[in-house]
Amino acid sequence: MTKHTSHEIDIVKSDTTKIDAVDFENLTFGRTFTDHMFICDYENDEWQTPKIIPYQPMTMDPSARVFHYGQAVFEGMKAYKDEDGKVWLFRPEDNFNRINKSAARLAMPEFPKDYFMKGLTTLLQMDSAWVKPGKGNSLYIRPFIIATDPAISASPSSNYRFMIICAPAKAYYTGKIRVLIAEEYSRSANGGVGFAKAAGNYAAQFYPTSLAQKKGFQQVIWTDADTHERLEEAGTMNVFFRINDTLITAPLSDRILDGVTRRSIIQLAEDNGIEVQVRPITVTEIKEASKNGSLKEIFGAGTAVVISPISAFEHAEELFELPNIENSYADTLKDKMLSIQHNMAEDKHGWTYQI
Ligand SMILES: Cc1ncc(COP(=O)(O)O)c(C=O)c1O
Repeated sequence: MTKHTSHEIDIVKSDTTKIDAVDFENLTFGRTFTDHMFICDYENDEWQTPKIIPYQPMTMDPSARVFHYGQAVFEGMKAYKDEDGKVWLFRPEDNFNRINKSAARLAMPEFPKDYFMKGLTTLLQMDSAWVKPGKGNSLYIRPFIIATDPAISASPSSNYRFMIICAPAKAYYTGKIRVLIAEEYSRSANGGVGFAKAAGNYAAQFYPTSLAQKKGFQQVIWTDADTHERLEEAGTMNVFFRINDTLITAPLSDRILDGVTRRSIIQLAEDNGIEVQVRPITVTEIKEASKNGSLKEIFGAGTAVVISPISAFEHAEELFELPNIENSYADTLKDKMLSIQHNMAEDKHGWTYQI
C-alpha cells in the first residue's frame, strides 16, 4: 500500500443545492451530478489530505499525462435508499479492491482503504437527499484516478488525482437487447488490460459497437482475440448463458473484468439451487444449443442495470432468436439482487453496507 498521512477530510459545503431543479423522473443517465465531489491528490509520493468540495469544473494543464497516454482507471458502483430512508452500498470493498488492481496494472499508486471508505461515506452522507427510494432507483458512484503530471513524455506520472463524483440514476427498463458476436474486433487480449477498469478499454469499444449499432444490434459480445470462439463479455457487462437449466459463464482471465454483479449472480444462483458452470463457452456451442432448442437465455450482468436480457444474437451473418420463457433466470436473479441491494430481502452474505 502506498503510504499516506492520516488526516481527516477537509470539507467545504455548498451554500446552495441544485437538487430542486432536477427532474428525477426524467434523468438521462450520467448527466446530472450531486452537490459535492471528493478529491485527493497524490504528490511527493504521498496521498495528500482529501477534500470534499462543491461539484465544479477543474483546471488542468493541457500536458497532463491522462490526456496523452490514457493513464486513467475508474469504478462504477451504486448507493440505494430503503423505505426507512437508510442509504446502502453493495459490496463496496470489492470496488475498492478492483480500483487498486486496475491502478497497479496502469503503474499508478494504490489508494488507501480508509480514505476510500471515509471519502465515500462522508460524500454520501452529505448528498444523501440525491439517493431516491424505490426499487431500481439509485445513485451511481464514479470513483476514478487520473495522471496529472504536466509532462508529455510517455512514462508514468508522478502526480495523480483520485476523485469521486455521483449521478442519480432512475430505475429504467431497458428491454431486451440484440447483440452481435465479435468476429474481427477485440476488447482485450492476453497480457493486456481487459481485467482492469482502464479508461482506454472503453474508448476502444466505441467504434466496433457503433458498427454493430448500424446493423441494428445494441451491443457486441466480445470473444477471445486469438480465435473469436470463446464468448467473454457483453458490451460492458459479463455474460451468462442458460443451456437447459444450467447457467454458464466464462472463467476470469486477464481479458475479463471481474464483475461484482457476476460474482453475486453466481452465488445467488447457487443459493437458489441453479447449477452454475464457470467454464469456457464457445460460439459453436451456443449456435448448436440454439438450433436444438436447449439455449434458453443469454444475459449481461453489471452494476448499471444488474441484468440485461438478450433476445437475439448474430454470428457469421446468421441470426439466432432466443425463446420467450416464463420464470426466466434473468428476471428471478435480477429481482433477488435488487431486493438485497434495497434492503428488502435477507442479506445472508453480508454484501450490503450501511452509510
Ligand atoms: C467490461 C466490463 N465487464 C463487466 C462489468 C460488470 O462489472 P460490475 O458487475 O462490477 O459492474 C463492467 C462494468 O463495470 C465492465 O465495464
